[in-house]
Amino acid sequence: MAQKQKLELTWIGKDKRSHLEPRVLIEDPEKSYHAKTRVTDKDIFDNRLIFGDNLLALKAIEQEFAGKIRCIYVDPPYNTGAAFTQYDDGIEHSLWLSLMRDRFEILARLLRPDGSLWVSIDDNEAGYLRVLLDEVFGRRNFVATVIWEKRTTRENRRVFSFNHDYVLVFASDRSQFEEKRNLLPLSNEVRARYKNPDNDPRGPWQSISANAMAGHGTASQFYTLKTPKGALLDPPAGTCWRYTRRRMEEEIAKGNIWFGKDGSGVPRIKKFLNDGEGGGLTPETIWKAEDVGTTDTAKKDLMAAFDGEAVFDTPKPEGLIKQILEIATSPGDLVLDSFAGSGTTGAVAQKMRRRWIMVELREHCRTVIVPRLRRVIDGQNPTGVTEATNWKGGGGFRYYYLAPSLLDRDRFGNYVISKQYNAAMLAEAMCKQMAFTYAPSDTVYWQHGHSTEQDFIYVTTQTLSREQLQKLSDEVGPQRSLLVCCGAFRCKPDAFPNLTLTKIPQAVLDRCEWGKDDYSLNVANLPQMAPDQPATVSSGNGSRVARRARNQMALFGAEPGGAE
Ligand SMILES: C[S@@+](CC[C@H](N)C(=O)[O-])C[C@H]1O[C@@H](n2cnc3c(N)ncnc32)[C@H](O)[C@@H]1O
Repeated sequence: MAQKQKLELTWIGKDKRSHLEPRVLIEDPEKSYHAKTRVTDKDIFDNRLIFGDNLLALKAIEQEFAGKIRCIYVDPPYNTGAAFTQYDDGIEHSLWLSLMRDRFEILARLLRPDGSLWVSIDDNEAGYLRVLLDEVFGRRNFVATVIWEKRTTRENRRVFSFNHDYVLVFASDRSQFEEKRNLLPLSNEVRARYKNPDNDPRGPWQSISANAMAGHGTASQFYTLKTPKGALLDPPAGTCWRYTRRRMEEEIAKGNIWFGKDGSGVPRIKKFLNDGEGGGLTPETIWKAEDVGTTDTAKKDLMAAFDGEAVFDTPKPEGLIKQILEIATSPGDLVLDSFAGSGTTGAVAQKMRRRWIMVELREHCRTVIVPRLRRVIDGQNPTGVTEATNWKGGGGFRYYYLAPSLLDRDRFGNYVISKQYNAAMLAEAMCKQMAFTYAPSDTVYWQHGHSTEQDFIYVTTQTLSREQLQKLSDEVGPQRSLLVCCGAFRCKPDAFPNLTLTKIPQAVLDRCEWGKDDYSLNVANLPQMAPDQPATVSSGNGSRVARRARNQMALFGAEPGGAE
């Protein structure tokens, strides 16, 4: 048997990859929204809400946003087994892993070098997701697993009351992330621990014990200490002094040791707010409900924003997202959530003055996210982190949907350019296909986009004559080059040294899958059963192979699978 060359997770269908069509995004101006007036000069208007499958949406934005996103937060379906009532042999887990892998591979390319990915997940897939992300990001770029206390009440109906979810954190480049990540602001509770009973000019401080465990001490830490008031003190039994005699005397001279208000107490070491935690707190890996909220508080806050109506079942609390964005981003940075749900990430990003992109597949993109974000922009959303961020409203977003596939079949089954494409959409789509930046010139008709300062693209469905091409070649000149994508051309393909001539749709036919709109978790998307598997299956409680075949039939929708 061939030796495996690396440690890896395998699953059914791992080798199958989609060849995605890079779609054009179309704005629906009726759903886009902008504040009527500017609230501050830092208002952000260029946020994007995209309606559609996130795999196609991520592919659509990849060219423009590769290497530009500072923080990605995603909260994908947890794959709790609810998608199919019967499954076997890990089909559902395999499918989930493939769907996730395809999305994370694009997400990884979108991140800035100092960017990070944060993924909410529970025990159903946490272990598998961790290994999958190790594979996509490199194990060295794993940062932490955060435990979020999602409920504070006991759930008595299950064997354990599952009170936490995980947030897996990966960096694009761990060392850059570590260098740039922010500390957390001090909570009032932590700040209240620091006082200044001796009016120390260095500011508030708290004290810690001056003793250490005896077992960890060296001989120089065992001595009788003479206090400034002349008392003689030995360390309590089982302990030694934290400092050697000489260091202790230096620290006393510097005013860093506290002997109580009247100077006759046991020594304690002063820790100043400004030296340590004052600059901020290192994030911890356990996030308590009281600090970031629970699923319950999230639901209540969302209901409050919709006049008491329960519009979405599984929102995350705004406090959770705020904590992530505090650590991973700064104002103005780009934040992405490609499983937007009720739009919590965008709402929080807006309130924290970060730019955002969100993608959502289902109708609640329009019915929940749009009205939620409108209220945030209007300053009419008092719940969540509004007070903590001092949010007063402002800014806006544009609403996009995915253009249909560029190519359609005609009545003979041949690929043709879709009738739904106008000239501008066609030019933009061809730019994406050919890896040019779409930037149509107002003055030069043949400049629809560019790949460098000297290399341009021209897209037309016309048939171009030799004379027309000669004129084009003369205008382009010897210092520049032009890719011409046209219906047909009446000369040899290499007739003009500065023009590259291609026909559409022929030039793009093999580049991707056409006409596929749904790459989501869908029974119809399951991998086909391998041809070498037994085709005939006896009925009854047969073998494992029989069960698998029956369940696959059910999964493919041929007939309902039998209960095991
Ligand atoms: C658990 S919810 C996210 C909740 C969100 N964090 C919030 O606070 O409201 C997952 C969301 O992902 C969406 N989703 C699932 N598959 C998707 C896909 N292929 N493309 C885009 N969105 C998808 C679902 O419709 C659902 O709204």
